[in-house]
Amino acid sequence: MRSTERLKADSHGIARAATLWRDGEAVAFPTETVYGLGADARNDHAIAGIFEAKARPSFNPLIVHVADLPAAEALVNWSDAARAVAQAFWPGPLTLVLPLRPGAGVSKLVTAGLNTLAVRMPAHPVARALLAEFGGPVAAPSANRSGRISPTQADHVARSLDGRIAAIVDGGAAEVGLESTILGFDGAPILLRPGGISGDELSAALGVPVVARSDGDGVSAPGQTASHYAPAADVRLDAKTWRGGEARLGFGPVECDLNLSAAGDLREAAANLFAHLHTLDACGAGTIAVSPVPRRGLGLAINDRLARAAAPRG
Ligand code: TXA
Ligand code: MG
Repeated sequence: MRSTERLKADSHGIARAATLWRDGEAVAFPTETVYGLGADARNDHAIAGIFEAKARPSFNPLIVHVADLPAAEALVNWSDAARAVAQAFWPGPLTLVLPLRPGAGVSKLVTAGLNTLAVRMPAHPVARALLAEFGGPVAAPSANRSGRISPTQADHVARSLDGRIAAIVDGGAAEVGLESTILGFDGAPILLRPGGISGDELSAALGVPVVARSDGDGVSAPGQTASHYAPAADVRLDAKTWRGGEARLGFGPVECDLNLSAAGDLREAAANLFAHLHTLDACGAGTIAVSPVPRRGLGLAINDRLARAAAPRG
């Protein structure tokens, strides 16, 4: 055990976090999607610290966060399609998987030995300030123990990682609440993980349909395991009626313990999803039952997370 510093998202906290990154430490920080656990992407020892703190399997590669486009250009090779979506959605909740540039200097632990790299330019002002202050690429998975519910507040990070990481920068609640959309390219664009930007939005920007990855495709996101985002409780999906003793997570105008969005708004539901799962799980219920959430737009990403939260645990 070590003591984890709690830093404010002011100039002092940002300078301290950047110093810790330079010293090879892992520091959690807010992004608009979820909190990330960041470390210097060029430092093997620092990256090993992330895998250790999260108990993350080493075959699961990390996303590298950059402050601006030139920083991303130094790391990966760009195609016209990749440039078009970056222009449309960066900074924002979109990660691009592109060919790693030889000599980019990224630790092999970050890519888990793949010849591609996942890159993202976050929009959160605190994340941007941290990346600018640090001045280098920051690898960051979500700041939770591997396989568990993702953190959208500094307290979620603390509950999962206190004593295991150097510091947490507190930037309030994450606005999007779901991880970034991951887009890969295998000739055509492939949706590797649904997320904060919908497949329809990507298709519109690219002018070609973006298809979701299916099992057996060559390109994949190795971290997309069936069980993920798992609370301690079991999860029952598409609950149209409630059973006794369950914690009730509603959507739309239903009676429940917590509502993702009483108004039936998918953006609001995405922002509340992980926080509500954390809260209901902390109540100690054996099962969390969840109302049906429409499978369109952001609802596809919400249902992806819920299906993994409900999947049999490995
Ligand atoms: O919103 C987000 O993306 C957050 C914030 C912190 O930026 N990060 C995040 O990281 O969700 P993580 O580690 O929880 O999920 C990263 C996913 C994993 O499923 C991993 O397998 C995939 O990205 N990934 C990373 N590098 C890849 C690569 N080269 N090819 C395919 N998938 C990759
Ligand atoms: Mg994660």
